[in-house]
Amino acid sequence: PGQGDGDSGGAQAAAAAAAGGSSARSQPQPQPSRGWLGRCPRLRTLLLELLLVYISVPFLIRLFPAILTKFIFLNFLAFPFFADLRQPALLLNNTVSLRLDTEPGVSVGIWHTVPGSRGAEARGQEQSWYEEALGDAHPVIIYLHGNGGTRAASHRVQFMKLMGAAGFHIVALDYRGYGDSSGYPTESGFTTDVLALYDWVKARSGNSSVIFWGHSLGTGIATNAARKLQEERGVQVDAVVLESPYNSIREAAAHVPITTVSPAALHGGCPRCPPPAPVATQQASRSLPGRFTGSSRVSSTSSWTP
Ligand SMILES: *[C@@H]1O[C@H](CO)[C@@H](O)[C@H](O)[C@H]1NC(C)=O
Ligand SMILES: *[C@@H]1O[C@H](CO)[C@@H](O)[C@H](O)[C@H]1NC(C)=O
Repeated sequence: PGQGDGDSGGAQAAAAAAAGGSSARSQPQPQPSRGWLGRCPRLRTLLLELLLVYISVPFLIRLFPAILTKFIFLNFLAFPFFADLRQPALLLNNTVSLRLDTEPGVSVGIWHTVPGSRGAEARGQEQSWYEEALGDAHPVIIYLHGNGGTRAASHRVQFMKLMGAAGFHIVALDYRGYGDSSGYPTESGFTTDVLALYDWVKARSGNSSVIFWGHSLGTGIATNAARKLQEERGVQVDAVVLESPYNSIREAAAHVPITTVSPAALHGGCPRCPPPAPVATQQASRSLPGRFTGSSRVSSTSSWTP
């Protein structure tokens, strides 16, 4: 045993000497000067991985453009996640949820809120009462929401409350692929949904004004639908309201921090980049007031491109 102890003692000493020697040798590159990242290799790996993901996103999108569409529509983020879209009463008074088949195989979910002045009558009424109510003299807003979430998102509910109190009917749909609507989101599909809803409203609204109110992504949809009505049927919508509009998705993305692209690339600085998408709602906020007083002109020049 003594011998063994001695042996192991000797081994320990040798190990200590080796350790001392190695630590002495590694002194030119000391641990502490590598900073806190050096001391947290796991964090460093994580950050490197995040950087890799960040760098590879543009290449992935280039290879699989469908990913980009998903990020533009954000319909998979169906917030508020636990709202029952068939029970609007939990969020909004004077409201009924209904469904509309906008083309074979596509059915969209809609909320119809009647003006606050009709609130007392609306209590406990069926959809048929609401449909008839559309024909009272109050103007009708077809509300076209932005990307992400459903018609139950709180800022949209606030909008419906506010405009309902101001004496409007609000008819708010979830486009195909959103909320409880079936189908998959596409630009032309959205236009089809909105035109079907417009026809449904017009069949019930008598002489009332019918307004497209688009917000964010919905401004492109409102513009597309209004233009299609005008070009294909010669019908002018009574008004189009564009809230937070954009000229093109490319330009809009340039102003979202996470998707920022260089302004040079946007304005032709990059010779191999495609030219900026045509302008859909060019200077809409400036040209609308003049265009919309008196007659109902729609100032749209071309489509938006996701
Ligand atoms: C509905 O109206 C009642 C009575 O005005 C009010 O107390 C209630 O908070 C309203 N509900 C919602 C969801 O706004
Ligand atoms: C719509 O307006 C026309 C002409 O102004 C009028 O004759 C008609 O009765 C109105 N219809 C309704 C449902 O108010």
